[in-house]
Amino acid sequence: MALFSKKSNEKNLQINIPEHIGIIMDGNGRWAQKRMLPRSAGHKAGAQTFRKITRYCSNIGVKYLTVYAFSTENWKRPNEEVSALMNLFKSYLEEALADFKDDSIVVKFIGDKSPFSEDLRKLMLENEESSKNRDGMVLNIAMNYGSRDEIVRAVKRISSKVKSGELNSDEITEETVSSYLYTSGQPDPDLIIRPSGEYRISNFMLWQCAYSEFVIMNKLWPDFSTDDLDEALEIFSKRNRRFGGV
Ligand code: FPP
Repeated sequence: MALFSKKSNEKNLQINIPEHIGIIMDGNGRWAQKRMLPRSAGHKAGAQTFRKITRYCSNIGVKYLTVYAFSTENWKRPNEEVSALMNLFKSYLEEALADFKDDSIVVKFIGDKSPFSEDLRKLMLENEESSKNRDGMVLNIAMNYGSRDEIVRAVKRISSKVKSGELNSDEITEETVSSYLYTSGQPDPDLIIRPSGEYRISNFMLWQCAYSEFVIMNKLWPDFSTDDLDEALEIFSKRNRRFGGV
């Protein structure tokens, strides 16, 4: 874990930079509602925050950032909101091909891509392909992601390996399960931030968050600033992580 010193409240505080941060980007709808705007306006503002926070994380030395953009349950929202989100993803992904290039960010999509339109799937693939050889922070964008779905998918793939004789069931370990998740090969998140004041995990990285530190912030995602991220890092830095030990 990287360390840096930061002047905070007149005193020097040593900040631990987590290797992997997960963010549940929550509160777009309420942000829009407060301004009498359509929910889609909240998502648009949330997309700007996403760009700002992603770049900031990359600059301060975070190695992996996972953002929850669309869950397996979000399809239940009104058609109008789902299609506004799909349009936002599409326009964002078109720009994203050039964006983040200077920061050497590697873009990955985690989740089941199959229900998305062909255009969107193509853009996801192009983003993954064009960024895969970069050497900077890995940005996992969770789209049509649900952790229970991820675990079911892993169980099915492991079972078929057992059935075909490629894997011995006695040899299945925690590492085996981890290696069948979308985040295979990546460290588990050290810190999970949820803005908007909700105390829920909402089907996000259930397996991977076993020893993550949670920081709930009382800010709606579109209002979330780099100072808020710094505050979350300060809180994280003061935590005593024991991983089940003493
Ligand atoms: C949850 O807030 C947010 C979402 C379901 C969408 C998140 C999407 C973005 C931030 C867009 C940017 C992402 C990319 C990859 C361009 P909510 O709508 O549940 O808010 P509420 O709880 O206030 O209703």
